[in-house]
Amino acid sequence: MKERLEALRSEALDKLQTVADAAALNDLRVHYLGKKGQLTEILRGMGSLSAEERPIIGQVGNEVRAAIEAVIAEKQAGFEQAETARRLQAETIDVTLPGKKSAVGAVHPLNKIVEEIEDIFIGMGYTVAEGPEVETDFFNFEALNLPKNHPARDMQDSFYITDEILLRTQTSPVQIRTMKAMNGQTPVKVICPGKVYRRDDDDATHSFMFHQIEGLVIGPNIRMSDLKGTLLQFVREMYGSQMQIRLRPSFFPFTEPSAEVDVTCAQCGGSGCRMCKHTGWIEILGCGMVHPKVLEYGGYDPKEVTGFAFGMGVERIALLKYGIDDIRHFYANDTKFLSQFAKI
Ligand code: DAH
Repeated sequence: MKERLEALRSEALDKLQTVADAAALNDLRVHYLGKKGQLTEILRGMGSLSAEERPIIGQVGNEVRAAIEAVIAEKQAGFEQAETARRLQAETIDVTLPGKKSAVGAVHPLNKIVEEIEDIFIGMGYTVAEGPEVETDFFNFEALNLPKNHPARDMQDSFYITDEILLRTQTSPVQIRTMKAMNGQTPVKVICPGKVYRRDDDDATHSFMFHQIEGLVIGPNIRMSDLKGTLLQFVREMYGSQMQIRLRPSFFPFTEPSAEVDVTCAQCGGSGCRMCKHTGWIEILGCGMVHPKVLEYGGYDPKEVTGFAFGMGVERIALLKYGIDDIRHFYANDTKFLSQFAKI
């Protein structure tokens, strides 16, 4: 039996020397060491051995198993190493090859303008407030001194949801909301950017939805000159230090007195061109001293405090700043248009 075991060992070790791959190695392992393998087969005969021979043969059996197992383990390790080397070779990446460029998005020009305007006013000590786009008739009109049937409501043809609820036509209602939230405290210094909606037919200068930025300042002794100085500072930071503004008398129900503000035409520098209709000036916003009734609606005593307010169209500011001729470009989401603002 001992000879059979020795023969098995040398046959197995011989075969193992020339084994070609991991699968063949496994076949050999099963063939020699498996439950129904050659070694088990031989050792099954141990029952017929004498008590003295049994431990000796048992030991030889163990040695043969150990010897075969050792070579299998060695071969196994060799195959694994070769496999790793093969994969490293096959999966090599040339890190010097140029990569695929992925398209990078850009901030929308309107958002850019809003952020720029916010930064300018934050620099002057303002905070940013927001209000709902679905607004009540009270906040959008009544509390701004535009009672029902007031003819100035016609200027802002509205999308009504019910008799009392509408899509806000202006950011001015945030004035009232801010005043109420401030609960009579001063100073109030806020700007309120947001979307507004009007029943307009879309064309190069009109859209049923556009953006405004509202400003509101309330405190003791706030004067028209504060308003003018603030707007001049804003315009110069926005368009350049050579810019001038002029205030033209106007009417808004929520301010008294009211004015419209023109700025030097950036296109021609004030000498007159097509853009400014040869006047040298471009209108950019409406403003005025907050009407006493509006202060009262907001919970302030007009004998104790005064304030100024202004409202501007973001699209208009952007058109002027970038020399764009059609407001519809802002909403078409054509990346050829939008990507131009990625680097500005
Ligand atoms: N809400 C006005 C509009 O949409 C703009 C405006 C004018 C706002 C004068 C103001 C203001 O705060 O004082 O036409």
